[in-house]
Amino acid sequence: MDIIKLPEYNIYIGHIQRALRHFVTDRQYSQHLLIADENTATHCLPILAEYLADIPFKVITIPPGEVHKNIQTCEKIWSSLMHNQTDRRALVLNLGGGVIGDMGGFCAGTFKRGIDFIQIPTTLLSQVDASVGGKLGIDFADIKNSIGLFKNPGAVFIDPVFLKTLPKREITSGFAEIIKHCLIADRDQWNSLQLVKNLEQVDWTALIAHSVLIKKQIVESDPFEKGIRKALNFGHTIGHAIESYFLSSKTPLLHGEAIALGMICEAHLSFQRQGLTNQELEQILSFIKTLYPQPIIPRDSFQELIHLMQNDKKNVDKKINFSLIQPIGQVHVNQEAETDEIKASMHYYNSTVN
Ligand SMILES: NC(=O)c1ccc[n+]([C@@H]2O[C@H](COP(=O)([O-])OP(=O)(O)OC[C@H]3O[C@@H](n4cnc5c(N)ncnc54)[C@H](O)[C@@H]3O)[C@@H](O)[C@H]2O)c1
Ligand SMILES: [Zn+2]
Repeated sequence: MDIIKLPEYNIYIGHIQRALRHFVTDRQYSQHLLIADENTATHCLPILAEYLADIPFKVITIPPGEVHKNIQTCEKIWSSLMHNQTDRRALVLNLGGGVIGDMGGFCAGTFKRGIDFIQIPTTLLSQVDASVGGKLGIDFADIKNSIGLFKNPGAVFIDPVFLKTLPKREITSGFAEIIKHCLIADRDQWNSLQLVKNLEQVDWTALIAHSVLIKKQIVESDPFEKGIRKALNFGHTIGHAIESYFLSSKTPLLHGEAIALGMICEAHLSFQRQGLTNQELEQILSFIKTLYPQPIIPRDSFQELIHLMQNDKKNVDKKINFSLIQPIGQVHVNQEAETDEIKASMHYYNSTVN
C-alpha cells in the first residue's frame, strides 16, 4: 500500500480494504451512502461490499456516461439523500470513474452546505487524474464542467483491482494521462515508461502512485488553477479540439485517445517553438503510435479545429494558450503559437500516419 499525504487528506493506493475500513469506522458517520453508475454497480460494488463487510451502506445508482453528468442526475442524487434522511454527519462514497467522482462530489459538497465524501475511482483516468485535485462539477448548457466547485474529499482510495473489468480501450485512454505526467515532470519515469509494451502486464500500483504524486505536486502548488496547474494542459489544447471534432463523427475518440494525438501535435509545437529536439519528438511519436489509434485529421478541418481552440474557455483575448515541453520532463506554461505553427503540427501528425 502506498500512501500519498496531502495537507488535508490522504491518497491510498493498492489494496485499500484496511485503510478504507479504518477511515469509515473511525469517524463514526451517521450513515454511509454509496453512489455508483450501472456499470460500477455491476463490476465494482461486489468487491467494495466485501471490503466493507459488516459496515452498513445504502446504494444510489445512476445511469452511466458523460450525458448523465448534469443537473437532472444531481436532482436524483439529492432526492435520494433527502429520502434517506441524510444529515450532515453522513459520508458519501463515490464509486466510479470521473463522472461519478465529479458529480457525486459536487452533490455531496453542496448538500446541506456540504457533507463528507470520499473518492474510490474505478477507471484509470479517474485514478491518476480526476480523483486528485479537488475539482468537482457537472456539465451545463452544453458546456463541460461549467458548474462546480473546488472541494477536497476526506480521502481517495485507489485500488487497481477495479481495472480488471475496465474495457481495454478505457485503460489505454487513461494511460495517456500517465504519459502526460511523465512528459511534463519526470524524464526518468518517461524512460522507464517506454519499456511498457503491453498494458496487460503493468504493475499498476507503482505506476499510478508515481503519476498521482506528480499531479499532487502540481495541484498543491496551485490549488485554484491560477498558474502552474496549467502544466497539466499539455496535449489538451489541440487534444480537446480533436476530441470535439471527432465527437460528431462515426468514430468518436475517447478523451485519452484524443489527448495522445494532441500530445504528438503539441510535442511538434514544442519542437518548433521551444527547441525540443527532433530525437525527443520522435521518441514521443513512436511510443504513442504503438498504443493509440491514428485517424487522419482532415486538412479541410484545420480551420475549424483552430476555431475550437480559440473558443476554449481557458483563453484570454482569443489567444490560444499552450503548455509546451522542453526538454522532456520540463514544462513551460502560457506559451502562444501562430495558427500556421498549429496547422504545421497537425500536418506533421498526419504525415506520420501510415
Ligand atoms: N475533476 C477533475 O480534475 C477531472 C480530471 C479529468 C477528467 N475529469 C472528468 O472525468 C470524466 C471522465 O472520467 P472517466 O473517463 O473515468 O469516465 P466515466 O466515469 O464515464 O467512466 C467510463 C466508463 O467506464 C465505466 N466503468 C467505470 N469503472 C469501471 C470498471 N472498473 N469496470 C467496468 N466499467 C467501468 C463507466 O460506467 C463508464 O461507462 C469527465 O466527465 C471529465 O470531465 C475530471
Ligand atoms: Zn485529460
